[in-house]
Amino acid sequence: MLEVSAELRGRHFTRVADWSGTELKTVLDLADELKRLQASRREHRLLPGRALGMIFQKPSTRTRVSFEVGIAQLGGTGLYLRADDLQLGRGETIKDTATVLSRYLDAIMIRTFAQEDVEELAEHAAVPVINGLTDAAHPCQALADVMTIRERLGRLDGVRLSYLGDGNNVCTSLMVAAGKLGMDFRAATPPGYEPAAEPVAIAREAAAASGGSIELVGDPAAAARETDVLYTDVWTSMGQEEERERRLTDLAGFGIDERLVRLAGPDAIVLHCLPAHYGEEIAESVLYGPQSAVWDQAENRLHAQKALMALVIG
Ligand code: CP
Ligand code: NVA
Repeated sequence: MLEVSAELRGRHFTRVADWSGTELKTVLDLADELKRLQASRREHRLLPGRALGMIFQKPSTRTRVSFEVGIAQLGGTGLYLRADDLQLGRGETIKDTATVLSRYLDAIMIRTFAQEDVEELAEHAAVPVINGLTDAAHPCQALADVMTIRERLGRLDGVRLSYLGDGNNVCTSLMVAAGKLGMDFRAATPPGYEPAAEPVAIAREAAAASGGSIELVGDPAAAARETDVLYTDVWTSMGQEEERERRLTDLAGFGIDERLVRLAGPDAIVLHCLPAHYGEEIAESVLYGPQSAVWDQAENRLHAQKALMALVIG
């Protein structure tokens, strides 16, 4: 049976910034191993009888299914908890919810709006809390992203990644992970869509220590030229629907099309956290084209999160 390190047991995963590059690599190594075991249908019930509660205040396809299937493959049970169906939706406090759920569950995954709510849940929970997306961060996505990059390119150190579009939650978590893992990260955004100043500072400090770099630019073509990874995400995130028209105008020209992929070069891979909007942030032909690693990336959510759960629940 697989040996899993106890070093990360009990840890929350609410933002990438709280984890070291070495700790992130521990998750990636186990994720690779679990992917191999799953592919050959070998036993890896690392969490028999454990229960994961999954609180959702926003919709989800990948996060919900990959966590629910992932905990089942590890021998445990996942509970889908719609936030509005909990007493939380009627005013029960986050503190009381955290305290009670900790008596039933071995870990809590939450997808919600405010990052502060996830931090408050973690503060009061006696079990690990995993951030399944907030307005500010999407750390589980970043794990799958760097897993996919390492799988395709064989390394992370010195890998050039260009993120094009909205400097949102996905961009932020990926940027901080890139800084910790020695990557050369560049975000090309229109004015006003840059990633937030605090995570940029955190990522830059991490990059200074890891040998990586973090650059913010305004020209998508310059960012795409000679890069190893082209990355994009939706222009209108969940909760921003009323801004959609303005965002379509502001972000025009930042979509990944075949021209930008050609600028990147024939060995570059294309990533997108999904869901995609064809003809906006990505062309359908690129999403399904020969350089797309998007579907592996989506699959890797499963393996990366199984590794994360195995390590923090223990
Ligand atoms: N990428 C991602 O988190 O997808 P879902 O919103 O479908 O979970
Ligand atoms: N930035 C997107 C990611 C969806 C998985 C959003 O927050 O809606």
